[in-house]
Amino acid sequence: MSVRRLYHDQPAHFVPSGTTTAFADLAVTRYPAGRQASAVLPVLWKIHEQDGWICEPAIRWVAERLSMPYIRVLEVATFYTMFNLAPAGTHFLQVCTTTPCWLRGSDGVVSACREKIGPEGVVRADGKFSWIEVECLGACVNAPTIQLRSDFYEDLDHDKTVALIEALERGENPKPGSAIGRHSSEPLGGATTLKDLSVGGDD
Ligand code: FES
Repeated sequence: MSVRRLYHDQPAHFVPSGTTTAFADLAVTRYPAGRQASAVLPVLWKIHEQDGWICEPAIRWVAERLSMPYIRVLEVATFYTMFNLAPAGTHFLQVCTTTPCWLRGSDGVVSACREKIGPEGVVRADGKFSWIEVECLGACVNAPTIQLRSDFYEDLDHDKTVALIEALERGENPKPGSAIGRHSSEPLGGATTLKDLSVGGDD
């Protein structure tokens, strides 16, 4: 299990966007009075969407907004690996290297990221990219997998990862999902069971 600490170089302030503030205000109303702490995950996630990472002043902002002890918000932010704790590029690639992805070639995905972006956890000079290794993304059947924002790019290898990064560099919006044309998580070559759509479903 990785040790997750706050980034060593923190901004002085967190500046929420109007969207983030409105989201936090609405999130609080979804829970009974006195239970506003229940909104901690969605509010942190909104901040993550805004900045690409969770900074220490943002944790204080959430604690104040939700009337929570600072340490409780800190615990949540550092526990869940979906919260990036360091500055990220515009395109923040989370590369799964857990066993199924590793067995299916995540080393090649990692090497492509190193070649095209640079060292893990370091924002590229143009500010557009950064990447980190993460634990299982829950898409093992289509390993190896990269998460980018809310999308998964699957069935990758070195060259397909390079192509993905280059498409992003050109400002394109690559189609998420399998890079080898698999539909959902079907086997290569298509479904092998439940192919007769006329069977069942009438009662
Ligand atoms: S091991 Fe990579 S998605 Fe599960």
